[in-house]
Amino acid sequence: MKYSIAVIPGDGVGPVVVEAALKVLGALSKLFSVEIDFKVLEAGDRTKKQSGTALPNLTLNEVRASHACLKGPVGETAREVILPLRQKLDLYANIRPAKSLPNISSAVEGVDLVVIRENTEGLYKGIEEKTSDYSFSVRVITKRCSSRIAKVAYETALQRRRKVTIVHKANVLRSCELFRDSCLEVARGFPQVETEEMYVDNAAYQLVKDPTRFDVIVTTNLFGDILSDEAAGVVGGLGLCPSANIGGQYGIFEPVHGSAPNIDASKANPIATILSAKMMLEWLSKQYRDLNLGEASKILESSVLNLLTKGDALTFDLGGKAAATDMAETLVRSIGGSKKPYHIK
Ligand code: IPM
Ligand code: MG
Repeated sequence: MKYSIAVIPGDGVGPVVVEAALKVLGALSKLFSVEIDFKVLEAGDRTKKQSGTALPNLTLNEVRASHACLKGPVGETAREVILPLRQKLDLYANIRPAKSLPNISSAVEGVDLVVIRENTEGLYKGIEEKTSDYSFSVRVITKRCSSRIAKVAYETALQRRRKVTIVHKANVLRSCELFRDSCLEVARGFPQVETEEMYVDNAAYQLVKDPTRFDVIVTTNLFGDILSDEAAGVVGGLGLCPSANIGGQYGIFEPVHGSAPNIDASKANPIATILSAKMMLEWLSKQYRDLNLGEASKILESSVLNLLTKGDALTFDLGGKAAATDMAETLVRSIGGSKKPYHIK
């Protein structure tokens, strides 16, 4: 099968980290003789300057026409790009794993959790107003969206350590009551999975104090945005944490971090984007029942783990001196040297 992948390089460090990920995907496509056609698309600050819009229709349509999309971070116009993409393509599940990695200094070892963030409503619904005297943002929580994100969380937990923490603030917010009740209703269909509830303020505290207690965290849009950055900090930095925006039909894969306009782009760490590409391969493999892509995602992950274990080609944030391209080339060499896999037809 031939895959067409939409690529949004974005702004700041985006083009550099995305190019690194494309190099690595190129090596995997060779190893597995899978054809991948990359379509590079415009979106973000530069696009808005040139054309007046941060997310041109052409880009949206090309993403719709592709099998998946790999996206870099966008700068000032981030919310004009990613929020409409999430809402228009109904990418209702934002999956954000945070896992301890070898040789990465962090406060706690052995963290392996995933934040599953509702991605289409909550405070991000865009129902708001601002005058010079007052402002409001309406938080929309529906049973439909809460139930479907809870289902993703419970199905994910079945493949992991079988524990879900429902994070909310139902002691204060009525909208959180509906979120919690909808999640608990879904939980009843998964008796094999342990369920706990936690207020979001306590969850923020426990993430720092005792992060290994978590397996799957399911929460609303803004809470998930905040807790996923916090979880990244706990495992050693945003440069390492990938994410997937997934719906019934489409998937967009992007690093959790932003465009980091203040750092020298060549010094950026591409691991978050490379691991997002790994999540893309895994998703494509399930979506199109392609076992080769599942194998490719495993080889990609073990190459990253090997690189970190050996301390080869580490970027500046990890205490090394390598540029993003050096890290990508090291991964390409290690993938090229992998045992030629058996092609599963
Ligand atoms: C993220 C980002 C976005 C969000 C911004 C850029 C709109 O922070 O993907 O976590 O808040 O969702
Ligand atoms: Mg964020």
